[in-house]
Amino acid sequence: MTTERERIADFDEEKLAGIIDLYLRTGIAVHSPGAMGRQFSGVVPLAGVIDFVTSMVNQPSSFYEAAQLPNVAEQIMAEELNAFIGWPAGGFGMVTTSGGSLANLTALLAARNRAFPDFWEGGGPGPVGSGRPAIAVGEDVHYSVSRAAGVLGIGEAQIVRLPLNARRQVCPDRAEAVLAAAERRGLQVFCVVASAGTTSVGAFDPLDELADLAHRRGAWLHVDGAHGASLLVSDRLRPKLRGIEKADSLAWDAHKMMFVPAPCTLLFYRDREQGLGAFRQQASYVFDEEPDLYTALDSGGETFECTKRPMIMALWALWAVHGRALFAEKIEQLCRTTGQAHQVLLEQPDFEALHEPEANILCFRYRPAGLTGTGPADRRELHRLQVAIRNRVKRDGTFFISKVDIDGTAALRVVLMNHETSTEHFRMLLREIRSAGQDIQLNGKGNR
Ligand SMILES: Cc1ncc(COP(=O)(O)O)c(C=O)c1O
Repeated sequence: MTTERERIADFDEEKLAGIIDLYLRTGIAVHSPGAMGRQFSGVVPLAGVIDFVTSMVNQPSSFYEAAQLPNVAEQIMAEELNAFIGWPAGGFGMVTTSGGSLANLTALLAARNRAFPDFWEGGGPGPVGSGRPAIAVGEDVHYSVSRAAGVLGIGEAQIVRLPLNARRQVCPDRAEAVLAAAERRGLQVFCVVASAGTTSVGAFDPLDELADLAHRRGAWLHVDGAHGASLLVSDRLRPKLRGIEKADSLAWDAHKMMFVPAPCTLLFYRDREQGLGAFRQQASYVFDEEPDLYTALDSGGETFECTKRPMIMALWALWAVHGRALFAEKIEQLCRTTGQAHQVLLEQPDFEALHEPEANILCFRYRPAGLTGTGPADRRELHRLQVAIRNRVKRDGTFFISKVDIDGTAALRVVLMNHETSTEHFRMLLREIRSAGQDIQLNGKGNR
């Protein structure tokens, strides 16, 4: 910090170098093949360059008059990506939001306003006799969805949890009965939320069946594709999202599997008119009474943000310069390497693979002989060991992994986001985990 208080301190190259150096040496190193713990992208350098320009031109993208290129780029990217969703051109809509959490909240608002048109104005669910507003989600849904229920005033108690099958996907057959029971309890489920790539294990819910189920009951199907929607751009992986064209809305984080700087989320609506229903307000200083060809591109009325980063620019620039194959190849490689990592795990007698990976997330446990019991005390011990291993690996710093509780017991979790991560890196990680695990078991503690 400068000690200068009276005048503007001179530019100091060394200080700047110190700041940048500290920035690079701390936090998650997304460009390191060892950073396998979170869904943060190793950004494609060209995207970083455009992001730098974005910061300097500082155009807020909610309004065409202030950010013409970003608004047009949003239209272009919406059409390009809709080619993989499959909605008829002309009727669908897309807005960018600052993150998947905000996209989920915005979609739920639109769904709630459709089912309860007086809620926005009157602040309550509607005429006497209508059920209490509720949403239905899979057990593994991202926390932003239950948080959105809180923000919307629906209340945690009105979140209907749909059971999962052995692959941790929502099970449509059992969901039907749960929804019927919720209705009997006086709930009106206005939205079913499916996950296209759960955060915990990367499971893809059966969208086709869940869309039919939701629509039979007059509910909206929102797909939280924050993590996995990007698989749509790969011909090989697109079938994971079979039925996506039946969804009413889709949240798609480009800052995860499209390798651009955060935040960059695209919120799609099958019917643009329904999306327009998320917010209702007048503000004469920004919203035009009579939109023309250009102000019709404004998205300020459809998103929370007033000032919004033109987050589409990095994505559009990558798409424009390198084309779809850049994304498809990277995503396919990440999923392929995760599959190979799973095979490596299966060869290790002291590790337990918890699922066959559907995408690029893999959960497992270090479980040496002596820890194979299934009683409550064994599970507690197993849980403690995974947590201690995760903390040790994080502290040692060569690898960065995360942990997630699966059926109440901690598991180690890797998310392959960097195409330079290979199965050899994964083997090195397992060696490090094994040695940490043995040491912790010997010394009885997580910390050396
Ligand atoms: C499935 C899922 N939904 C939503 C989110 C939240 O997205 P964001 O971090 O962009 O707010 C995440 C983040 O990890 C996620 O995995």
